[in-house]
Amino acid sequence: MANTPPKPQLAVIVGSNRRQSLNRKLAQALAKLGTGKFEASFVRIDDLPMFNQDQETDLPAEVVRFKAELAKADGILIVTPEHDRSIPAVLKNAIDWGARPYGQNSWGGKPAFITGTSPGAIGTALAQQHLRAVMVSLGTILIGGEAYVTFKPNLIDDAGTIADDSTQKFLQGFVDRFADLVARLAQPRAERAAA
Ligand SMILES: Cc1cc2nc3c(=O)[nH]c(=O)nc-3n(C[C@H](O)[C@H](O)[C@H](O)COP(=O)(O)O)c2cc1C
Repeated sequence: MANTPPKPQLAVIVGSNRRQSLNRKLAQALAKLGTGKFEASFVRIDDLPMFNQDQETDLPAEVVRFKAELAKADGILIVTPEHDRSIPAVLKNAIDWGARPYGQNSWGGKPAFITGTSPGAIGTALAQQHLRAVMVSLGTILIGGEAYVTFKPNLIDDAGTIADDSTQKFLQGFVDRFADLVARLAQPRAERAAA
């Protein structure tokens, strides 16, 4: 009997270090929507030091760990709040560490899905727009479409499931398309590694 191929590995990054983060709840719900399609690992960014180019020649241990986690990921899911109409500093800090040192960009060629939630009406649209520009400049392959989620108190239930039907269907569509893209790009990589 043929071995079941390993599931693609997703690195999930939440752009908030708040304990009760709404975006972490959304990220967990999205990981649930992808059950059976990929393995999701949440990657810490709250322990990364403030970026300092002086440390590029001797990377802090947390940065080495962070970049190793990105290296083994077949795809990146970023779920972020909007801070002052842009990317939260904690997330931008992580992106900068991932991009450096020069020539060791951890983001290049990785498929990525960007989404996020806020109680505000535009549901992180501006943060996501800024983030898309940054991630494209770093060579990630973003899935198309826009997934701005306005957070309502009953959006995610106690079991961590998206309780609103239309939002659930909307986001399932993104997760399915993303899982498909990650699997298609991961397969040749796995074949090359096995060769
Ligand atoms: C510094 C700061 C700036 C914020 N700026 C925005 C903003 O520009 N747009 C928005 O919709 N919400 C903004 N908010 C409110 C956040 O959407 C809200 O705090 C949300 O819960 C953050 O996501 P989290 O729960 O995952 O941390 C801001 C919150 C903070 C703390």
